[in-house]
Amino acid sequence: MISISKPLIGEEEMEAVRAVLESGQLAQGPKVQEFEAAFAAMCGVKEAIAVSSGTAALSVALLAHGIGPGDEVITTSFSFIATANSILATGARPVFADILPDDFNIDPADVVRRITNKTKAIMPVHLYGHPARMDELMQLAETYGLVVIEDACQAHGATINGHAIGSLGTGCFSFYATKNVTTGEGGMITTNDDNVANAARLIRNHGASAPYHHEDIGYNWRLTDILAAIGLVQLKKLEGFNNARRKNAAYLSANLRGVETPTERDSCYHVYHQYTVRVRNGQRDALLSHLREQGIGANVYYPTSIHQQPIYRKMGYREPLPKAEKASREVLSLPVHPALSEEELTKIVEAAASFTGQKV
Ligand SMILES: Cc1ncc(COP(=O)(O)O)c(C=O)c1O
Repeated sequence: MISISKPLIGEEEMEAVRAVLESGQLAQGPKVQEFEAAFAAMCGVKEAIAVSSGTAALSVALLAHGIGPGDEVITTSFSFIATANSILATGARPVFADILPDDFNIDPADVVRRITNKTKAIMPVHLYGHPARMDELMQLAETYGLVVIEDACQAHGATINGHAIGSLGTGCFSFYATKNVTTGEGGMITTNDDNVANAARLIRNHGASAPYHHEDIGYNWRLTDILAAIGLVQLKKLEGFNNARRKNAAYLSANLRGVETPTERDSCYHVYHQYTVRVRNGQRDALLSHLREQGIGANVYYPTSIHQQPIYRKMGYREPLPKAEKASREVLSLPVHPALSEEELTKIVEAAASFTGQKV
């Protein structure tokens, strides 16, 4: 089976972990600080704060902006559930806007319709590694006095108009095993705002400003030096990883037939966390089964929009979001990770072609 993702861990990562283990400093320490500095430099921001997961990054960012009960945060329903759950976890209410059909990201025109006097933030997701429409969203935020928290969990190294994703709003990244940079589990918050950075540092560590001095409610959402050491090595490889993803994506787009291949808007640099096509005519699930039978680890991200998940239905979310729901029925992701060989890429195209022969 050609897997949909593959962590690329080499000797350097192993050596880096060994060095930390030998140092005896395993929990949050100097390697975390080094990783934060390197990540901030990559994004071109003043501050980066490492945490234990992408979900923790989203929660910390929301809390650091003072978002909580009574507040509304407008986000997309076409994402991984952590996007919306992190809002719920603060006591605030996620309000879902529909998406744009071309890149599957949140539609600023639908965001504007949903702004109320309770709205405190907009949380776009740069889905699959393609930047959301940040120009319009930042403009809206300015007009209505809102915060923008970017769910950049799938978009390490992506840019818009030359600006790194995570540098326009408050950025939240994940280093889960499938991501463009991985530490197994892990996360990072990026910001140019000292107050947000300071609040985030307290929240991730029991609200402690000094050992055993707790100024605020906080949690244990720290990253370990063991994982930060892996992250430092991975970060050096990010550009190469993303170039390989883009090259693989270009090959697939040039050779696949019968499906709608991904778009990249002019101002954007897509980092293809996923290579996601649209399959029309109700053929998506049949193509998925066919590809799996041919040894291609294709998958669907995401088969159910968040507002349609049982838990959200139970909470009373009923309003249809037609474009997100249609995307859930039509999207299909194919392997695009940097470890794919030419032979594997050819096999993916041939497997799809042997189905498109059956009229997609
Ligand atoms: C869009 C999005 N948001 C949030 C998350 C949560 O990140 P993590 O799994 O590191 O908690 C992920 C990844 O899993 C994601 O893809």
